[in-house]
Amino acid sequence: MQALTAEMDDATLRSWLREEDPARVARLFATADAVRAAAVGDAVHLRGLIELSNACVRACAYCGLSVHHRDLPRYRMTAEEVLDCARRAAALGYGTVVLQAGEDPALSGPLIADLIRAIKRETGLAITLSLGERSPADWRLWREAGADRYLLRFETSNPRLYARIHPPARHDRPWDGQGEVPRVRMLRELQDLGYEAGTGIMVGIPGQTWDDLISDLRTFQRLDIEMIGVGPYIPHPETPLAHDFDGAAEHGQQVPNDLPTTLKVVALSRLLVPDANIPATTAVATLDKAQGREDALRAGANVVMPNLTPPQYRVLYEIYPEKACIHETAEQCHACLTARIHSIGRRVGTGPGSAPKRRRHLLQESA
Ligand code: 5AD
Ligand code: FES
Repeated sequence: MQALTAEMDDATLRSWLREEDPARVARLFATADAVRAAAVGDAVHLRGLIELSNACVRACAYCGLSVHHRDLPRYRMTAEEVLDCARRAAALGYGTVVLQAGEDPALSGPLIADLIRAIKRETGLAITLSLGERSPADWRLWREAGADRYLLRFETSNPRLYARIHPPARHDRPWDGQGEVPRVRMLRELQDLGYEAGTGIMVGIPGQTWDDLISDLRTFQRLDIEMIGVGPYIPHPETPLAHDFDGAAEHGQQVPNDLPTTLKVVALSRLLVPDANIPATTAVATLDKAQGREDALRAGANVVMPNLTPPQYRVLYEIYPEKACIHETAEQCHACLTARIHSIGRRVGTGPGSAPKRRRHLLQESA
């Protein structure tokens, strides 16, 4: 009944998510750690994160960059500043840069395409984009310019909860608010364009139930997704969700936004999608600055994302309060993460660090 395999049924998933016995939880993490070692090895890949703009047109109810957060000064890095960060990533030995921003229309399709080409030309690094919900035309343009991967968390697969925390934007394609959430369709579009696609969720969103988490895990599995980012929901006082209450808790079904629950979701993600790339996220590090990332790396994760954003911008990329690394420099994060990786007996990965299944696709294409 409690078998820890990719074939486990929903009842088994639920009992592991709710498991509180320390010895059994330790067994879950150890099993995920062994599956991680067998499927993707001991290397921990470093992805250099460049937060190139904190401008956003969306009003996500949980996010500190929401358009409604009017007190937040907004910035947009110049192409030369972004290129500088990418050069630094290459100098530090990273295989990948992640270009992340709010949904910022000023980051036009052609502007980002030029940036992708410049980074490729100068550094040859793998490029991951995390620029929100954009048009299929932009996604195609960027793929043709050389982008390799795209991150778009669906946050929750429960359509009612999704709709409640994601007010629609004017440019959205119509959605009846039922069935599959829009970002799951978008992830398939990204995969069809040849991107390695990454997604993820927040754990402990107000109103999120255990059934929702099971459905989220099943969605990772169904998409056979290449990357899975999981972090705790951290209330931001300037957002509506921080003051919202749904009532799931009254029925004992509210998922807590704590580290143990988040780590269980990380471990189960590894078991269900063994060859995915799974980061130890900044949100996990924020809940436990001393050990959070190490704990995640020992519960199934195999990636970390050192921050390369220049310090004067970093403090303004305040998705949630007390975010880890907000006062550090690129060099400090690099040294910090390298030491953490070595402290748990792992090694730093070299090269782009693609998900194994993507490497299989590439081999098939070239055969
Ligand atoms: N708490 C935790 N994670 C958050 N994110 C956004 N707001 C919060 C918050 N308040 C996460 C979302 C988003 C990613 C960039 O940051 O999952 O996809
Ligand atoms: Fe940034 Fe540790 S990774 S300070």
